[in-house]
Amino acid sequence: MTDLSIQIAGHKYANPVWLASGTCAYGRELADYFPLSSLGAIVTKTITLEPRLGHPSPRVFETPSGMLNAIGLQNDGIRDFISNKIKFLGQHRADLIVNIAGKSISEYCQLCEQLTGISDIISAIELNMSCPNVSNGLEFSKNAELAEQLVKMARKSTHLPLIAKLSPNVSNIVEIAQAVEQGGADAISMINTLVGMAVDIETFKPRLSNVTGGLSGPAIKPVALAMVYRTYQQIKIPIIGIGGIMNYKDAIEFMLCGAQAVQVGTANFVNPMASIEILNGMQNWLQEKGYDSPSEIVGKVEA
Ligand SMILES: Cc1cc2nc3c(=O)[nH]c(=O)nc-3n(C[C@H](O)[C@H](O)[C@H](O)COP(=O)(O)O)c2cc1C
Repeated sequence: MTDLSIQIAGHKYANPVWLASGTCAYGRELADYFPLSSLGAIVTKTITLEPRLGHPSPRVFETPSGMLNAIGLQNDGIRDFISNKIKFLGQHRADLIVNIAGKSISEYCQLCEQLTGISDIISAIELNMSCPNVSNGLEFSKNAELAEQLVKMARKSTHLPLIAKLSPNVSNIVEIAQAVEQGGADAISMINTLVGMAVDIETFKPRLSNVTGGLSGPAIKPVALAMVYRTYQQIKIPIIGIGGIMNYKDAIEFMLCGAQAVQVGTANFVNPMASIEILNGMQNWLQEKGYDSPSEIVGKVEA
């Protein structure tokens, strides 16, 4: 059997198939379908310092080959996460990556410090610098200087590995990737959703209460692949590929373009077993092709 384990920022993950933030909550629902520890890691829904109610409904809308969402980072806040949600995740022995967002650099740092206090069950922190659905959600991933500064300060607040999650809603994602690498990020995850909109022609109303939302799913895969490919050429830290991965072939494409691991998002809503099927498909494909490790195919696209 091909050994699927990978190393990112000194941490060994069982395999390169992870669950994407906001599409698996805190694991409870998917744990009814498969052992969470079968996957490489689970990335939590974004956690903020204070609880957030999110946007009113409607907050999701299905589009051709994808979906729009404007949840607005609804969550119960860091205190609830540490005192309640973490227990369940700890019992499941899944590698846990906690996704956080702040309104300021100081808020990101406070979150990092609080998570460091429970670092024995956390493998990494993912800095969500890229939510398109809240005001100022993109502030840190649109400006290279701010992006670098944010990571630099977060770096000082924790010894945990930092993954910077980048937005595609920028003119030059490579520049931002280089800035977060410079700031001390251990890895990059890309991409978050693309800003999109849909309108009901009977009522003339936008389909989402927030008017615009984030587009995800197969529709964004080619955009994400191109961004991973271009970024891989210019940085040294590992990339975790995200965007429209629905099956193992999609995941392999991301790895050929330079991703060391992938996150599965929208596919979880279509099929709760999607990530496990992707994992099994990847294992079989690598085995059949005679690879000893998934790392052997990373960046091997012959462009
Ligand atoms: C309903 C929904 C909620 C999401 N919430 C978050 C979130 O809280 N934090 C975050 O960093 N990304 C969030 N995302 C973005 C996903 O993690 C992922 O980057 C994006 O959906 C692209 O991957 P996909 O096409 O496989 O879904 C959310 C996506 C969806 C569809």
